[in-house]
Amino acid sequence: MQPIIVTENLSRHFGETVAVDGLTLEVPEGQVFGFLGPNGAGKTTTVRLLNGILAPTAGRAWVMGWDVAERPNEVRRHAGVLTEAPGLYEALTARENLLFFGDLYGVPEEELAKRVEELLEEFELAPRGDDKVGTYSKGMRQRLAIARALLHRPPLLFLDEPTSGLDPAAARMVTRMIERLSRQEGRTVFLCTHNLTEAQRLCDLVGVIDHGVLRAIGTPQELAGRLWQGVWVDIDLHGEPSLEISRFLDAHPLVHSHGMEDGRLRLRLESEEAIPTLVADLARFGARIYAVIPIEHTLEEIYFRIQAGEGQRT
Ligand SMILES: Nc1ncnc2c1ncn2[C@@H]1O[C@H](COP(=O)(O)OP(=O)(O)O)[C@@H](O)[C@H]1O
Ligand SMILES: [Mg+2]
Repeated sequence: MQPIIVTENLSRHFGETVAVDGLTLEVPEGQVFGFLGPNGAGKTTTVRLLNGILAPTAGRAWVMGWDVAERPNEVRRHAGVLTEAPGLYEALTARENLLFFGDLYGVPEEELAKRVEELLEEFELAPRGDDKVGTYSKGMRQRLAIARALLHRPPLLFLDEPTSGLDPAAARMVTRMIERLSRQEGRTVFLCTHNLTEAQRLCDLVGVIDHGVLRAIGTPQELAGRLWQGVWVDIDLHGEPSLEISRFLDAHPLVHSHGMEDGRLRLRLESEEAIPTLVADLARFGARIYAVIPIEHTLEEIYFRIQAGEGQRT
């Protein structure tokens, strides 16, 4: 299946500044792609390039099969975008805003009223639908802005830092809604964020960009595998392993390293397949095993290792 987003050496300069530098990536349909990176890394510029709002200095991009440089209007008509500072009409109600923008986006008149009601319900704004947006909290505005991006039922949604500046409760609500858009409605989401907890929860695939350069791309598991080589597992023996077991581990071909960590035996193994073999071996040596706990690296650990220059693509 053709990826829904493809870029090839996409670059954009602003004078001396190289905002995006030779970006090559693919995002498969139906996934949540987390585009991570510090402020000024080039995330927003990439979104603007992918929506044909900016022209690239070099390289090409295809979105939903269209060459963005050749068919920017098709791309804009079929993708939904939440920009960093979405403009809503403060003096209009939420319902009026959605009706206005739906008309602008060319949603057929006979569908529009129903679509607006659906979205107000879906984003839990219906009870305040007739209040002016000027009276809305930041979280409500952000939900309304996402609803607006969905008016024309785009299969692909670009969200540029959707939870930035929201309090934890409002942020969680937005995250939940993004989760539903992806998991239940099957939309592809291109999510720019520097909220790593949110990315951990939402993303199937992550890319880390810094100074315009894509430092790494992959599933969180793939990136962790590249950064830490092998599989890590803690084994609870209610104490230290016997000298005999320790020597056995030293010589075991599937064990890359072992040591004590928080009262448990921590092993670095060749692969996941080594876990049952090793547990059986330990039991043969008379070890009493109370728990076997695989170690999952968080996206935060992954991100900082990549920022430190490790695990880069070769
Ligand atoms: N319109 C512009 N004119 C000049 N420089 C810009 C413009 N837009 C972005 N930049 C620069 O490009 C770099 C990347 O910015 P941006 O894509 O907004 O990063 P991010 O969204 O990751 O914070 C920054 O150095 C920024 O100052
Ligand atoms: Mg930005």
